[in-house]
Amino acid sequence: MVKYYTDEILLTPGPTQIPLEIYQSMITKAKNTDLDEDFINFYNNLRNKLKNLLNINKGDVYIMLGEAMIGLETAISNTVAQGDKVLIIDNGVYGDGFKDLVKMYKGVPLLMGLDWRKSADPNDIDRALEKNKDVDIVTLVHCDTPSGILNDLSQVSKVVKSHGALLIVDAVSSIATTEVSFNNIDILIGGSQKALNIPAGLTIIAVSDYAWEKIKKTEYQGYYMNLSLWKEMFDYKNTFPYTMNDTLIYALDASLNNLFKEGLESVYERHSLAKKASLKALEALNLELYPEKETYSSPSVTAFLLPKGIKDKELRELTWKKYGVMIAGSWGKLEGKVARIGHMGYQASLNNLLIAYSALSRSLNDLGYKNSTTNALGAIEESFP
Ligand SMILES: Cc1ncc(COP(=O)(O)O)c(C=O)c1O
Repeated sequence: MVKYYTDEILLTPGPTQIPLEIYQSMITKAKNTDLDEDFINFYNNLRNKLKNLLNINKGDVYIMLGEAMIGLETAISNTVAQGDKVLIIDNGVYGDGFKDLVKMYKGVPLLMGLDWRKSADPNDIDRALEKNKDVDIVTLVHCDTPSGILNDLSQVSKVVKSHGALLIVDAVSSIATTEVSFNNIDILIGGSQKALNIPAGLTIIAVSDYAWEKIKKTEYQGYYMNLSLWKEMFDYKNTFPYTMNDTLIYALDASLNNLFKEGLESVYERHSLAKKASLKALEALNLELYPEKETYSSPSVTAFLLPKGIKDKELRELTWKKYGVMIAGSWGKLEGKVARIGHMGYQASLNNLLIAYSALSRSLNDLGYKNSTTNALGAIEESFP
């Protein structure tokens, strides 16, 4: 069983709880991260581990400081030139959010407003690209966390590539929960505080050769997020453009080592089981899954509609203050309508699901939505072998 250094239980879809072992990996001697060759070798080795995790055969990967938002802005600011047409696959809060970044960097967003309760249909994307031959870039969110939707990364990326556009993918809340393959993708972004179970503060960014071509042609309009500078520094000087934080790098290394020790196949299987159990529990509580079908739902988070008369804030306050478990509401147009339970990283276990649904079921009963906790927990137990 994983040990934490706190008794509070976070079953939110990020930030997730940090295991004690990962905290301990952060307590090391301070390093001069610019000058210490050992540290730079350690960082480069970690980049190779990420290549393994993300199936990057060709291309570069960097770990930058900053939350995942920095990764998203880096991707857009380095590739979108004035007037570039960007197809925004919008089936969620983060999907939609890409349009604002594109506008900020003077691109022209072409919003593909889809049903937020469904995974994007690759045929619709094919048709949109067929109709708009002048699209330079496409953005996709693999798992749109606020709606709990998972998009079909391998099919969508194939379609986008067949049209020759550059594909930017936000995989912040899917990495380490299901297979993420860099094939046919040009920029892929990850964060640290989701399934990797480490503190917020790192962004992972993978860049294909095709993306580098576009980056070279795009005049970067800023200072801090200059990807060309990262490439130049690592290709010629084997060091960082700015001072790196060593403790977070150690935490990421510990997290990846744990994933490889467990085996990626078993990690993904554990998440798929957790999803199955979570959906069964939801059914036992008579709650409605936000994604229209189970297949659209992500293995990292379950999003469900709040039953009539149940207020989001009251529900979350009860689960947290009375039962010691934090679950999440949602954002944007889903705020107040949808609540979420995270099962990413170490959260994806029989115990954590029992804890989450026990708190949820009891709180709902307290608020007058009658249900059977025994049935919900039984459904979870039956789903785990
Ligand atoms: C899909 C997705 N993308 C991006 C982000 C932004 O990450 P951060 O809060 O680390 O900037 C989040 C955060 O929840 C997310 O769920």
